[in-house]
Amino acid sequence: MAYGLALITGATSGIGEAFARELPRATGLLLTGRDEPRLAALAEELAEPGRHVETVAANLAGDAGRQALIARAAGLPIDLLINNAGLGYFVPFLENPAEREGEMVQVNCLAPVLLTRALLPGMLARAAEKGGRRAGVIVVASTAAFYPLPGLATYTATKAFDLSFAESLAGELHGVPVDVLALCPGPTHSNFFDRSGLPNPKSAAMASPRQVVREGLAALGRRTVHVVGGANRLAATATRLAPRPLLQAGARRTMRRWGRRRRAGED
Ligand SMILES: NC(=O)c1ccc[n+]([C@@H]2O[C@H](COP(=O)([O-])OP(=O)(O)OC[C@H]3O[C@@H](n4cnc5c(N)ncnc54)[C@H](OP(=O)(O)O)[C@@H]3O)[C@@H](O)[C@H]2O)c1
Repeated sequence: MAYGLALITGATSGIGEAFARELPRATGLLLTGRDEPRLAALAEELAEPGRHVETVAANLAGDAGRQALIARAAGLPIDLLINNAGLGYFVPFLENPAEREGEMVQVNCLAPVLLTRALLPGMLARAAEKGGRRAGVIVVASTAAFYPLPGLATYTATKAFDLSFAESLAGELHGVPVDVLALCPGPTHSNFFDRSGLPNPKSAAMASPRQVVREGLAALGRRTVHVVGGANRLAATATRLAPRPLLQAGARRTMRRWGRRRRAGED
């Protein structure tokens, strides 16, 4: 399905940038992130005659940034909303300043909720007007939504929130002309690992942002949760079935090992 105009949060790198690149040329773009020069360069590269490509620099960790983005987006005929911006901090909870813990909740949870709440009524009205058209909402969650990860407590919880939010919203909007998808990538090549302080997993275990996006766009309208990659899908299913204490013990061991790798990398 070709959308008319997509709003992509977190479009300056990684998965968000790949969404901007992979959407068909018939789809206009409203790109947002904090890095203004990066946004401008991407917009210039993707612009072409007749295509609406616009940028809004906004910090989604604050009310002012969220409201500025909503104000601009509300004036445009957005029909695909991609809630992708996100961040994590791999650090013991008690060692991370409270503002940073809050930042994850603001960007990963509050921003998608407020953007979706603000834009969805217009998206639905336009879809209904154009009889037979559908709107789309993608929330980028993570495979981290399926299990506990000590050292990433708040991040993991925000991604479980994203999964639950999208899944529940999809149920609530059944029969309405909008498709909602919780997209759950596993480890993916992007700035995420360096920024979060996580040690990089082996390259072979990582997806490319392009693969994530292609799977996500293909899944939109077909299902409400999509885990990227066969091995991740198997792991997500297994973790849903495994006894919780077993899962917690396994996660504790894995995250201790990751913590040792991070400390070794710092030395
Ligand atoms: N990479 C992975 O392994 C992986 C796995 C599962 C899920 N995910 C999820 O995928 C999404 C995209 O991450 P990525 O892997 O593409 O990482 P990334 O390359 O670090 O991209 C993150 C994007 O979020 C934006 N962002 C971060 N903080 C922001 C803020 N305060 N205000 C506005 N924008 C902000 C960044 O833009 P600016 O810096 O310009 O603001 C950037 O465009 C996230 O939701 C992440 O949780 C990633």
